[in-house]
Amino acid sequence: MASEKPYLAVTCTAPVNIAVIKYWGKRDEELILPINSSLSVTLHQDQLKTTTTAVISKDFTEDRIWLNGREEDIGQPRIQACLREIRRLARKRRSGDEEDPLPLSLNYKVHVASVNNFPTAAGLASSASGYACLAYALARVYGVESDLSEVARRGSGSACRSLYGGFVEWQMGEQADGKDSVARQVAPESHWPELRVLILVVSAEKKLTGSTVGMQTSVETSPLLRFRAEAVVPARMAEMIRYVKERNFQGFGELTMKDSNQFHATCLDTFPPISYLNDTSRRIIHLVHRFNAHHGQTKVAYTFDAGPNAVIFTLDDTVAEFVAAVRHSFPPESNGDKFLKGLPVKPGRLSDELKAALGMDPTPGSIKYIIATQVGPGPQILDHPHAHLLGPDGLPKPTV
Ligand code: DP6
Repeated sequence: MASEKPYLAVTCTAPVNIAVIKYWGKRDEELILPINSSLSVTLHQDQLKTTTTAVISKDFTEDRIWLNGREEDIGQPRIQACLREIRRLARKRRSGDEEDPLPLSLNYKVHVASVNNFPTAAGLASSASGYACLAYALARVYGVESDLSEVARRGSGSACRSLYGGFVEWQMGEQADGKDSVARQVAPESHWPELRVLILVVSAEKKLTGSTVGMQTSVETSPLLRFRAEAVVPARMAEMIRYVKERNFQGFGELTMKDSNQFHATCLDTFPPISYLNDTSRRIIHLVHRFNAHHGQTKVAYTFDAGPNAVIFTLDDTVAEFVAAVRHSFPPESNGDKFLKGLPVKPGRLSDELKAALGMDPTPGSIKYIIATQVGPGPQILDHPHAHLLGPDGLPKPTV
């Protein structure tokens, strides 16, 4: 085609999400279809995000990908699934639309580079933001405008929830081809401005059992997981959506904790058992319950994914006091790392009554640091050419 552009670069960012009703277990490993619906909160990209550049050019001879500056194997099945899916959608669009505004060749190879603004070593999951960002960037360069749930989901199930800001539901769907297994926004990021999120980074160690293998074993061996998916989650989804819509923190917080606990119970019910929580995680759980008991209501809530880090939900008026309680129970070690990162937190005071109520001997250094953040928007396009991680030659720009 004479009008074809020889080169197109797009850079975008995508957020991390944290599930308050957990996804655990697939009914189709290939298509990544879940055994239950799930619901998550999208975290703000000022604190946690993936940035991805995708470039297509008629001069590229092969697809290539760089993650955090290192070239990785583009042949990884999940990356291949995303690429295949996006090219299929692009082809479908072309054949249905004669007046294509972006007549770029589908046969062009793509180069992709992706970086996270948070340390991978912190043990924070990056696959959700990573695959959401990949899907979003690929869609832009190949001119795909349809729903991207399927593309992101084929990278990592939870990634489809990172395609939207605010509060997001991943409907499990019923169809065998997964066409109805899609993410949709329940409420936008502006819906609950008082809501705050604290990530308590507990350990930098790599986890023993990854989510993919872990949930596979759970599906095969845990009767509790089956019960959870069939008899518990459907009602919890409806309940959680209602709490979000009503901005009911009591309900939201309590159900978030119960669902996290049930997820970890299904892990213990898996054979051989899986345990993602460590002693520090359990001490955080204890601290949260003591803190709430002291106040006579649910003022903070925890949730844990496939690792020991805690994600805490609370309202802005409680952040300072809760952070003071964390400092008291887990005094930072002077390791040169700033203990509080992200949104500013006012210094809080702990009353003697609350100190006594916490009733815990301090364990210094077991929480490495805290990231304070809030609910945030979905993927964004970065227009400025400076934002591109790949140069005009399609290779990573040298980092300064
Ligand atoms: C515990 O989405 O990482 O974080 O689909 O195999 O890539 P795959 O798994 P992944 O699992 C996330 C599990 C979880 C709960 C959740 O985010 O809902």
